[in-house]
Amino acid sequence: MKETAQYLWWQSGIIYQVYPRSFQDSDGDGVGDLPGIIKRLDYLKWLGVTAVWVSPIYPSPMADFGYDISDYCGIHPLFGTMADFDKLLEEVHQRDMKLILDLVPNHTSNKHSWFEESRSSRDNPKRDWYIWHDAAEDGGEPNNWLSVFGGSAWEWDEQTEQYYYHAFLKEQPDLNWRNPEVQQAMFDVMRFWLDKGVDGFRVDVMWHMIKDKQLRNNPENPNYKISQSTYEQLIPAYSTDQPEVHDVVAQMREVMDAYDERVMIGEIYLPIDKLVTYYGQNRKESHLPFNFMLVTLDWEAQALSSHIDEYEGAIPEDGWPNWVIGNHDQPRITSRVGLSQAKVAAMLLLTLRGTPTLYYGDELGMRDVPIPPDEVKDPQGLNMPDKDLSRDPARTPMQWDNSPQAGFTDGKPWLRLPHNYQRVNVEVQRDDPYSFLSFYRKLIALRQQEPALNVGAYEPVQSQSSLLTYIRKYEQKQFLIILNMSHKPCIFRLGKQHYKGKIVAATDPDREGNEVDGNITLYGDEGFVIELD
Ligand code: GLC
Ligand code: MG
Repeated sequence: MKETAQYLWWQSGIIYQVYPRSFQDSDGDGVGDLPGIIKRLDYLKWLGVTAVWVSPIYPSPMADFGYDISDYCGIHPLFGTMADFDKLLEEVHQRDMKLILDLVPNHTSNKHSWFEESRSSRDNPKRDWYIWHDAAEDGGEPNNWLSVFGGSAWEWDEQTEQYYYHAFLKEQPDLNWRNPEVQQAMFDVMRFWLDKGVDGFRVDVMWHMIKDKQLRNNPENPNYKISQSTYEQLIPAYSTDQPEVHDVVAQMREVMDAYDERVMIGEIYLPIDKLVTYYGQNRKESHLPFNFMLVTLDWEAQALSSHIDEYEGAIPEDGWPNWVIGNHDQPRITSRVGLSQAKVAAMLLLTLRGTPTLYYGDELGMRDVPIPPDEVKDPQGLNMPDKDLSRDPARTPMQWDNSPQAGFTDGKPWLRLPHNYQRVNVEVQRDDPYSFLSFYRKLIALRQQEPALNVGAYEPVQSQSSLLTYIRKYEQKQFLIILNMSHKPCIFRLGKQHYKGKIVAATDPDREGNEVDGNITLYGDEGFVIELD
């Protein structure tokens, strides 16, 4: 792809998320680890992805499976050693791929020495590193803020007789990002890994990092439904997305910009108009504020199409789009849109303009695995057992082959495998041209070969009923993408424009090579990439 050399690796590349506990175990303890990831790098290279994002691997009491960090500059022994990490980085780079780490700056573990100091007394120099507050006059919590994982966001500390704020578990106290010492400490953490040569960070809950200075009460959510997380009872107007967060993110970006070509991705669940402010307005901020539209919106062609247009229009001129189809916090795409639609979803992800992020196992059509109540591990699931919010089903071990435990471990996996892993795994899908894996690999290769699909312009085409339709274009080359987002057959009727070309990728490979000239008929759950004449 010589012509598009002016694009940076994180613009023309494809990111693959590895949830390290579940990717590959190497020592039989049932938990994936760094040597395991190293062993599978050739697979990732073969698949065609160009960057690997690894969820947290740092020392942690594992209250939230690594998102509660007790040492930002170490490696949890469960995952290996710093030498293993250095080897991983080297092996990734040897394969001409990039390594992105998870950075969790919003909160630490309650076992981090910073918090232990902070909670030791009211006059400890680190007291102000966290968000401490006196009880309200009636002795209750300082305000009504709720924890994402259920219950109040305030925890009473007996010893020093104040509350501290935790947006997530009480084992995850929020840092006070208004404190310059906290800022400097975290910038040093970033430099520690950047100096080692990591290619970027995915920044956890970026939009949570600053809270209202006056700690004003959050308003009630009039649309709250009882089936939702208790957190949804309030609108987090004062606990998230505060104007001052942009100053913090801009400073983080300055740290990144002292290095060559690193990327800063922000985990941000916000509507488009607010999301795009994290690219930065006056100062540069996140390179890629994660766009979760394909994860959060209803799967409906017309609505999705107008949201895509809105997103395309809202991105600042020097901003680069990105798309996500799943992660370790969400039900897998197969559970949201169904197995039969999952290839259509993949075709959408891999043909839109902007960097795609894949979630491990989605390339096999892995499904959420039902986890019996007594095996639930996720604190979100355990804290609100009646709401079906456990994230475990989407975190089950990668299915490599049909040996015991799917080749993931010689021991007992930390989460169970599905009953059918012997049919759904890398080994059996590799050579089957009709498999999910072959489909993903073909689309990835096509995207990486064709500048039009990779970095080319996006042009909406008037969508018809359940079809999502658009054109990708680079210089003289044009591709028409038609996706049937329903289970029923559908006809793409020509309007003023006549389309003629050849199907180069299809959800059913038997359709590939077919010429298209005029109206186009599609089966339910069918998608085409058509190279136009
Ligand atoms: C992010 C992570 C999620 C974690 C939470 C708290 O949303 O993706 O897994 O539980 O932050 O750190
Ligand atoms: Mg292990």
